[in-house]
Amino acid sequence: MKSVTIDNITDLVIAAMSPDMAPRTKEVLTNLIQHLHDFARDVRLTHEEWLIGIDFLSRAGKMTDEKRNEFILISDILGLESLADAISHNAHGNETESAVLGPFFREGAPVLPAGASIAQRNTKDGPAVSLRGRITNAKGEPVAGAIIDVWETGPDGFYEQQDPNQPDMNLRGRFKTDDNGDYDIMAVRPVSYPIPYDGPAGDLLQIMGRHPYRPAHIHMVVVAPGYKKLISQLYDRQDTYLESDAVFAVKGSLIVDFKPARDNSGAEYLVEHNVVLKADDGTAVKAV
Ligand code: BEZ
Ligand code: FE
Repeated sequence: MKSVTIDNITDLVIAAMSPDMAPRTKEVLTNLIQHLHDFARDVRLTHEEWLIGIDFLSRAGKMTDEKRNEFILISDILGLESLADAISHNAHGNETESAVLGPFFREGAPVLPAGASIAQRNTKDGPAVSLRGRITNAKGEPVAGAIIDVWETGPDGFYEQQDPNQPDMNLRGRFKTDDNGDYDIMAVRPVSYPIPYDGPAGDLLQIMGRHPYRPAHIHMVVVAPGYKKLISQLYDRQDTYLESDAVFAVKGSLIVDFKPARDNSGAEYLVEHNVVLKADDGTAVKAV
């Protein structure tokens, strides 16, 4: 019987995996084990420090439910969601860049007609913004019938599921592009807000000497047959947190101007944003 040592334990754990595992799962787990063990050896991880880490993850688990996902917050403040997004989306040429999904997306937002508002409380939800643009492919051809799903916080910086004062599905909506690929959404001017920081993710931010704020943004997910799903965000050029986003998701091409609206839409501001979708070439790596 060979004793376990600092030097042989990694090979032993990797070798214990079944040869019948799905190849991608095996690749991911082999690398994860290798990097985790190398990390422990590099920092000379003590047993006490391992226990602190386990306690941190246990607290994250206890705080997580369908309205709050502490693990996504931790992953985001460490830049991991933004990195995974950059690896899997990787926009080329004129294709629209992606940004993190975050923990506050909800399936089943109301389907609304062009020009309708996602604000169910009118002006109480903030100054109205007419958000308009065209969805095309990389050749500039319009994508008719694309679904654009948008969501944002209220003026208090809370998403509706975080805020008992907001109606269900407030500030969320799905819109369809017309035959020209055009969409037309009434939203509100977003505000910067802190990600939830009363749990382990907040503790970690504090330990690292960082603030919890995200710059003002509107989220979007765009889907259309034959195209890759686009998960993205739009940022307000005037926001003070663009350079220090708590979750490292800002990309220059996604920063937009909230111009005074000089039309009869009833909005105070106008944002024009065209979206270029990536063709779905079927090369995406399947989830493990
Ligand atoms: C968000 O923008 O909704 C978000 C993203 C990452 C972590 C927390 C919130
Ligand atoms: Fe957000």
